[in-house]
Amino acid sequence: MSDKDLIESGDMKIGWVRSHMPVLSIIRENFEREQPLKGHKIAMALHVEAKTAALVEALALGGAEVAITGCNPLSTQDDVSVALNTRDNIKCYAKYDCCSDEYYEAINKVLDMKPDITIDDGADLIFKLHTERTDLLSGLLGGCEETTTGIHRLKAMENDGALKMPVVAVNDAMTKFLFDNRYGTGQSSWDGIMRTTNLLVAGKTVVIGGYGWCGKGASLRASGLGADVIVTEIDPIRALEARMDGHRVMSMTEAAKYGDIFVTTTGNVDILSKKHFEVMKDGAILANSGHFNVEINLEELTAMASSVRTVRKNIKEYNVAGKRINVLADGRLVNLAAGDGHPAEVMDMSFANQALCVKYIAETKLENGVHPVPHDLDMYVAELKLKSMGIEIDKLEPHQTEYMEGWECGT
Ligand code: NAI
Repeated sequence: MSDKDLIESGDMKIGWVRSHMPVLSIIRENFEREQPLKGHKIAMALHVEAKTAALVEALALGGAEVAITGCNPLSTQDDVSVALNTRDNIKCYAKYDCCSDEYYEAINKVLDMKPDITIDDGADLIFKLHTERTDLLSGLLGGCEETTTGIHRLKAMENDGALKMPVVAVNDAMTKFLFDNRYGTGQSSWDGIMRTTNLLVAGKTVVIGGYGWCGKGASLRASGLGADVIVTEIDPIRALEARMDGHRVMSMTEAAKYGDIFVTTTGNVDILSKKHFEVMKDGAILANSGHFNVEINLEELTAMASSVRTVRKNIKEYNVAGKRINVLADGRLVNLAAGDGHPAEVMDMSFANQALCVKYIAETKLENGVHPVPHDLDMYVAELKLKSMGIEIDKLEPHQTEYMEGWECGT
C-alpha cells in the first residue's frame, strides 16, 4: 500500500471507533477546551491500533506532546501508525512485525522525548526507564499501566524497593477490568480465533487456562458459541466459581487430552508445555490471550516437532509424532495479533480511565509507588458510560440512606 492509501485506511479505522467511544469523546472535548495537558510530554507503549489512536488524539488535543510505539511486535496496525504520524504533536514509531532490536529501538526513541508522563501496557517503558534510561527518572511525574501483567511487574518492583516513580494502576479500575478484561477479551479472543481459523466453535471442547477476568469472559463466550468448556486453575476459589458457572474443571494434564481449542489467559508461563503437547489430539488449536507470549511453550513444541509450516495466515502447524498441533499468532495475544483487539465500546471505558488518570498525574504530586485509580474517576466513567447508553438508574432516597447507614432498625 502507498502511504496515501495507508493514511486513508488508518483514518477510516480511527474515525469508526471514535464514533463508538462516547465517553472518550466527552473527555476529548473537555481536554480540547481546557488544555489540561499543555506543556506535558507523554511517552506511550500500547497496542497501536485504532482505539489507542483515539486516546492519543485526545491527549494531544489536550495540549500534550505525544510519542508512541507498540507494546507487542504483532499488534501494530501500520495504517493506524502512519495515520497517527499526520497529526500535530504526535510521533508514532510502531511497525508491524518488527524484529526485537527494532522494537526496543522504538521504545528508546519514544523515551528520547524526555517524557514527564508515561502510559504502558505491560510496563516496557517503565522497565527501560529503571534499567537503561535511569537519567530520565527524575523528570517523571508518573505513569499509567493498562494491564494485569504490567501491574504484577510494577508491584514486584515496588516490593523490591526498585520502583522509583509513581504509577497509577489503571487496569485495577472497576470500569476497566470488569469490562475490558472480561467482556473485551471474551469477545475479541473469539473474534481473533474465528477469523483466523474460519472454523466452527459449536460442538467443540474448549479448554480455558485460568479463570480470572479474561478467562471468565473467554469461557462465557465459548459457552455462548456452543462449546463444551473446560477450565483449568491453580486457585481453588476461582476453580469453584468456574464449576458453579457451569464449566468442567480439571488439571491441564487431563484437559489436554480432550481439548479441540485451547485459550490461555493466566499471565503465567508454561500453561501449555511438553507434557500437554504429548497427549493432545490431532488438529488441536492453541491460542493465547495473556499479555506475553510465554503461556504456550513454543521452544518445547518446536523441539518436539518434525516439521513446522504455515498453513494459513497466522496459523503454524507443528507436526508432533504424526499429530498436527496448530498455534495461532505465534502464541502472542490472539485478539490483537490476529484481530483488531477489544470492541470500541469497551476500550471507551479503559481509555477514558487512561485519559483521566493522565490528567490526575499532571495535577497531583504523587509519591513513588503503585496507586489506585481514584474512586470518583472510576464512578465518573461509569456514569458517563451509562448516560451514553441511555440508561438511567435509581438514586437513594434520604430515608434509604439513613436505613443503610443505621443499625437500630432490624425489623
Ligand atoms: P487475573 O489475575 O484476573 O487471572 C489470571 C488467572 O490465572 C488467575 O485466576 C490465576 O489463578 C490463574 N492462573 C495463574 N497461573 C495458572 C496456572 N498455572 N494454571 C491455571 N491458572 C493459572 O488476570 P486477568 O486480568 O484475567 O489477565 C490475565 C492475562 O491477560 C494477563 O497477562 C493480562 O495482562 C492479560 N490481558 C490480556 C488482554 C487482551 O487483550 N488479550 C486484556 C486484559 C488482560
